[in-house]
Amino acid sequence: MSAIQKIKGFADLFPEDAASFTHMEAQARAVFGRYGFGELRTPVLERTELFAKGIGEDTDVVGKEMYTFTDRGDRSLTLRPEATAGVLRAAIEAGSIEPGRATRLYTFGPMFRYERPQKGRMRQFHQINAELLGSPEPQADVEVILMLEDFLSSLGIGELSFELNSLGCRECRPNYRAALTAYFEALDHEKLCEDCKRRMHTNPLRVLDCKVPACKALVADAPAIGDHLCGGCRAHFDEVLSLVDKAGLKYTLNPRLVRGLDYYQRTTFEVTSGAIGSQTAVAGGGRYDGLVQLLGGPDAPGVGFACGMERLAMLMEKPEAPRPDFFLAVTDARAVDAAILLAHKLRRRGLAGECDYNAGSMKSRLRHAGRIKARKCYIIGAEEFDAGQVTVKDMEEGEQIKLDMAAFD
Ligand code: HAM
Repeated sequence: MSAIQKIKGFADLFPEDAASFTHMEAQARAVFGRYGFGELRTPVLERTELFAKGIGEDTDVVGKEMYTFTDRGDRSLTLRPEATAGVLRAAIEAGSIEPGRATRLYTFGPMFRYERPQKGRMRQFHQINAELLGSPEPQADVEVILMLEDFLSSLGIGELSFELNSLGCRECRPNYRAALTAYFEALDHEKLCEDCKRRMHTNPLRVLDCKVPACKALVADAPAIGDHLCGGCRAHFDEVLSLVDKAGLKYTLNPRLVRGLDYYQRTTFEVTSGAIGSQTAVAGGGRYDGLVQLLGGPDAPGVGFACGMERLAMLMEKPEAPRPDFFLAVTDARAVDAAILLAHKLRRRGLAGECDYNAGSMKSRLRHAGRIKARKCYIIGAEEFDAGQVTVKDMEEGEQIKLDMAAFD
């Protein structure tokens, strides 16, 4: 019978890979904790309307990539494609957002998008996500960006580029959209891809984000949002840039950075790496004023980011696996039970290690102890068993001593 295989675009994480994820989570907890963020865990399933409303019907994520199904109670549910909408839903539901008071939350976990799998692009992937709710000030954007930089440097990842842009607000975005649509209409827009022919009217900013080469070429000279920002957005973005400059963060301005989700306003940012193939974005985020209210909460702004853990794992050095303190080798069949009980006592003293369940030759057991890099090999053979003793061999120094088993009671 053929064995059942995992689903395409989904992955198993065995200890070596899981260790990188655990390390990232530990670093995120430490760094985000220093910025006053607390952990929130939300469900992986939410009502479909949360994402349709929050992320936007005309985005690839909602239009093409969601895992949506009807449950036995006839509700339309969706496996979360990102964390922001769920975090806001939870915070609104709990009544924990107050305009003017910062609420800081982070969350980790699996996200699901039905994309074409390739290196660095999975259908189930993991994000580390942070949201700062309630604060409209540009300083909040900067603190979130600096926290992201601190987190990425805590992983020892260098050579990352920060890209920044402002997408304007409800006041100035309509003028920019109109300028973009006029630009596309004046062009030979028949050359745009089918999606963009529609988007140039419904959501022209999306055209700037299209990966189709013909569209990319056509948008090269499109008007830049920076020239259409209202006074408030200009002042906000200038303050963000001035403060990140003062903090010493290196970044580039990218007027084409529109992000793939519709909720962004004002500051947006992405962090990319040239070292992981074509899927270069390791983190992205920005400000999403208006989203809390759109989802039924108070009129409170928000800003946040998410990092892709699979992509960060590709850039990180793998954390070293911890070495076991002992390997307990049995070379006489009568000693197996005594060995298991001794290993149990060692673990209760805080030591970590493995124990044989059957007897074998000394040579093979020592080879195994070396292979797993055990610091000490405990040996119970016929002689030790008869004398109520155990031999302890220091695997680095080579010295060995005999101890009474009773010494471990
Ligand atoms: P996003 O740019 O869609 O933003 O995703 C953030 C990061 O998740 C990406 O930069 C990438 O590293 C990773 N990622 C996305 N899709 C995949 C995939 N299919 N396979 C592997 N990694 C992937 C968001 O999700 C926003 N919610 C971020 C945010 C939080 N904005 C404000 N707050």
